[in-house]
Amino acid sequence: MNTTHIPDELQQRIDMAALRARGIKHQVLSPNERRALIGRIKHHLDTQDAVLVAHYYVDEELQDLADDTGGIVADSLEMARFGYEHPASTVVVAGVRFMAETAKILSPEKRVLAVKREAECSLDMGCPIDQFSEFCDRHPDRTVVVYANTSAAVKARADWVVTSSIALKVAEYLRDRGEKILWAPDRFLGGYVQRMTGADMVMWQGSCVVHEEFKADELRRLKIEHPEAAVLVHPESPSGVIDLADRVGSTSQIIQAAREMDNDLFIVATEDGIFHKMREAAPNKTFLAAPTAGEGATCKSCAHCPWMKMNDLQGLQRVLSTGENEVFIDEAIRSRAEVSLKRMVDFAREHIKPGMYVTGNA
Ligand code: 13P
Ligand code: SF4
Repeated sequence: MNTTHIPDELQQRIDMAALRARGIKHQVLSPNERRALIGRIKHHLDTQDAVLVAHYYVDEELQDLADDTGGIVADSLEMARFGYEHPASTVVVAGVRFMAETAKILSPEKRVLAVKREAECSLDMGCPIDQFSEFCDRHPDRTVVVYANTSAAVKARADWVVTSSIALKVAEYLRDRGEKILWAPDRFLGGYVQRMTGADMVMWQGSCVVHEEFKADELRRLKIEHPEAAVLVHPESPSGVIDLADRVGSTSQIIQAAREMDNDLFIVATEDGIFHKMREAAPNKTFLAAPTAGEGATCKSCAHCPWMKMNDLQGLQRVLSTGENEVFIDEAIRSRAEVSLKRMVDFAREHIKPGMYVTGNA
């Protein structure tokens, strides 16, 4: 398979950024302080015609607030759709940078605020536009498909943007049209898509610092201890982990699988913020985290996205009261990125019902 390599120096920078983010501690609030803060945030959302769009990996209190105030807690595809379709004039994104940028690309007329400007994503960081453009230039015959976890500039260079909930369907569609794919940046999701669809793909070699730490051997041992458990895996995980899954899907699709499957016990390979909504969706079921420890473990993130966890109530209150962290994107880049993103949103409207999960491994 034709691939491109992430230089060691870039990988070190990503690891360092993740470690630094992990060291950031939230200020502890008393119950009264928390109540007052939430009251102020609700007032701001109301008076500023703003809606809160949160990812499943952010802290529970932000997820609850999004639900309570008519916003949404969702996977990246549903976050993009919701921000785009919602009538509010301000969209506040609790997630990571690419999610806030996606909202702005799709809705340039809206004010988009990011709760944390510094919240990155290792996949986005590991795919700088200059190197990515060179990679594309080497494969002019290929349709460029990029994961949503990329910068606006990388999306602008792409023909298609996909998220984990729609990647297989888009690859099948392109394969059936005889198109060859250039895929970036996640090598594990790309490998999974390639194995499932047989599409002709060349691959950028990025990875998620959280999901790459799940360990297949330890998971196999945990499955032996709990033969009745179903294994739910996000496709950013290594192929050995995906091979052990009963269901592979986006965060929304994993939650839906937990709700719909008959099992009472689940082993879950994705970021630990997801357990909040999983318990809400299936309150009588039990969820175990898939192992990140074991042979060869470095556990820099331990199923915990350091950037998602930078989002907090205080940050949300600050951006609403000051207007800081507004997202701006160069119009030439935005308008090109809009084409590849809208292609995904339109395709999703036809092919993916909200929350529908993609596939089982069986
Ligand atoms: P989802 O689209 O499945 O929510 O994934 C986003 C993400 O960043 C997973 O690590
Ligand atoms: Fe990026 Fe991984 Fe964090 Fe998702 S969990 S935002 S892919 S670093």
